[in-house]
Amino acid sequence: MAKVAILGLGTVGSGVAEVLTKNASSISRRAGEEVTVKYILGRHDYPESPFRDLVVQDFSIIENDPEVTVVAECIGGTGAARDYTLRALKAGKSVVTSNKEVVAEYGDEFLAIAREKNLNYLYEASVGGGIPIIRPLGSCLAANEISEIYGILNGTTNYILTKMIKEGLSFDTALAEAQEKGYAEADPTADVEGHDACRKICILASLSFGRHIYPRSVPTTGITGVTAADVALAEAAGMKIKLLGRAIRQEDGKVVAYVSPHLLPEDHQLAGVEDVFNGIVVCGDAIGDVMFYGRGAGKLPTASAVSADIIDAVKHKDRRQNMDWAPGGDEVVGDYSLLPMKWYIRTSERDVRIGTVFGDVETVTAQEASGDRAVFTGLLTRKELEQRLAGFEAKTCLPVLE
Ligand code: HSE
Repeated sequence: MAKVAILGLGTVGSGVAEVLTKNASSISRRAGEEVTVKYILGRHDYPESPFRDLVVQDFSIIENDPEVTVVAECIGGTGAARDYTLRALKAGKSVVTSNKEVVAEYGDEFLAIAREKNLNYLYEASVGGGIPIIRPLGSCLAANEISEIYGILNGTTNYILTKMIKEGLSFDTALAEAQEKGYAEADPTADVEGHDACRKICILASLSFGRHIYPRSVPTTGITGVTAADVALAEAAGMKIKLLGRAIRQEDGKVVAYVSPHLLPEDHQLAGVEDVFNGIVVCGDAIGDVMFYGRGAGKLPTASAVSADIIDAVKHKDRRQNMDWAPGGDEVVGDYSLLPMKWYIRTSERDVRIGTVFGDVETVTAQEASGDRAVFTGLLTRKELEQRLAGFEAKTCLPVLE
């Protein structure tokens, strides 16, 4: 019999306890032995919870119990989550997690200890909620040389942008609606400023390219600067605005990763990914493009991925799953400002200097854009773009994906 400890009894932790209890017999059959929850680490007593009898408040009880072989970290953040992960691995327990922040910052450290101790450190739920993406990247697509991975990685911002596009709402109104529906946190900073998508693209890039890409080396722009005028101009040009995380392996082997709102043609495979859904495209040399789509957040979809990792850790207790990458370093990070891209620029229609700055470029207007127009450039690096825009008022400036 395998005994599991869940750290955290919030949305994800309680979801995992629920799934492991409800589907106990099929989970045990798939794991090859009975899987039961022995402890749940909580901050207080949870008298209303059906799992209250399992709650402990002292992590050392879990750490020192040799019966516990798998720890599911569902706390979030990088403080206690990192400390408990290190202690659990050092105590010889496999760890699974839904916590993208701790994986994006410290994944290489955890993976090295897990490797040394022949344990599993699994993180399927950290990207895309219930969408299978980590395991396919680590195993089903393992024969491919991956050149690029990109996608809509944050459900909250995709919901907000969808409302702005479909209902013409302003960013503030769409955000308030997302909060009302419980999609966005009371403090939505990590979502709307792109930090959440940044952590997720770091994890995908690290696994795809084999070296840790840390969040500090990923230029990140969120959606707070996207206006109803941008949405209207994009629509007039036959495009949609989506927040994408993107990681590209260059010919010199370096990886450029960044997060930014992009303009996508309406027939792009990610343009139809709406509301809180996520979509991730992987470009491999053998498979071509493959897209993963589904619910990227939520209690049960995320719990489904954490529970699958628990099953895997139980099933492979003497045979670790190779979902590894090595530590990163400046030598593996390419320069985002030198990546050639096409650009959308919003300027005032009255500003006639655009022709002298960019020559003969495509421009688009829209009634809802209140006197602004869109300019679409040819391929330019960010550095070249900034040089051309010096002293020029560009109200918005976003990359365009074809
Ligand atoms: N805040 C995240 C999102 C939750 O909106 O996608 C899932 O990671």
